[in-house]
Amino acid sequence: MAILKLFLSFLILGSVMAKRRSHIGRRLVDQTWYDAHATFYGDMTGAATMQGACGYGDLFKQGYGLETTALSTSLFNNGLTCGACFEIQCVDDPQWCIPGAGTIIVTATNFCPPNYSKPTGNWCNPPLKHFDLSMPMFTKIAQYKAGIIPVKYRRVLCSKQGGVQFQISGNPYFILVLLYNVGGAGDISGVNIKGSNTGWIPMSRNWGVNWQTATQLLGQSLSFQVTNSDGIMVEFDDVVPSDWQFGQVFDGRINF
Ligand SMILES: *[C@@H]1O[C@H](CO)[C@@H](O)[C@H](O)[C@H]1NC(C)=O
Repeated sequence: MAILKLFLSFLILGSVMAKRRSHIGRRLVDQTWYDAHATFYGDMTGAATMQGACGYGDLFKQGYGLETTALSTSLFNNGLTCGACFEIQCVDDPQWCIPGAGTIIVTATNFCPPNYSKPTGNWCNPPLKHFDLSMPMFTKIAQYKAGIIPVKYRRVLCSKQGGVQFQISGNPYFILVLLYNVGGAGDISGVNIKGSNTGWIPMSRNWGVNWQTATQLLGQSLSFQVTNSDGIMVEFDDVVPSDWQFGQVFDGRINF
């Protein structure tokens, strides 16, 4: 009886946790509002925001849409911040901020490169904190003619539909996994991979959100342990069947 009760309480705890996960909304990673500036790149189609330094591809197909930003060097953190979500508001610029616009929430999908030879307009050089937004996001909070605006921003949890996605590329000697549609803190700090015939193998980050291993795992079903920057880890068991091929995308089915 006691064991049954224990089992039941685990079940209940499990369903409460699952519920909490699916109702993330605007919960915060860090409630402090920080000062920064914002510009935009590309046009209203967002075509210029596709691909980019985080390693994502077609942002529409991958669920990010136009709600994205590129980050300056100090925010990008060499790609570790890719996938993080930011809430941003236009502040202290009555001429260009749209009154009552509220805030936007964007996912970091690209890098705004510094330019050390340019005499002015070096918004993305360190140590400046800068968001180079998609044009549709920028124009929600400011008039496009503003060019550059002062903003306040804070880190929020990412609210994503469906499971974490695993896109596998590489060759038989080198597996590269792109992880996208990551909820929770959104920025990944560690990934382990496990073949059906191996133990857990730590992956190393290659670039952006591409994680790699040199272990040969063709013909094995694959599992992942993904840890976000806030330390929360989710395990994706056997989400890749043993007949997987390079170039395929697999649905992790659950999310943070
Ligand atoms: C950096 O700035 C210089 C001077 O304005 C410009 O000529 C050059 O094209 C810029 N480089 C990049 C990569 O944008």
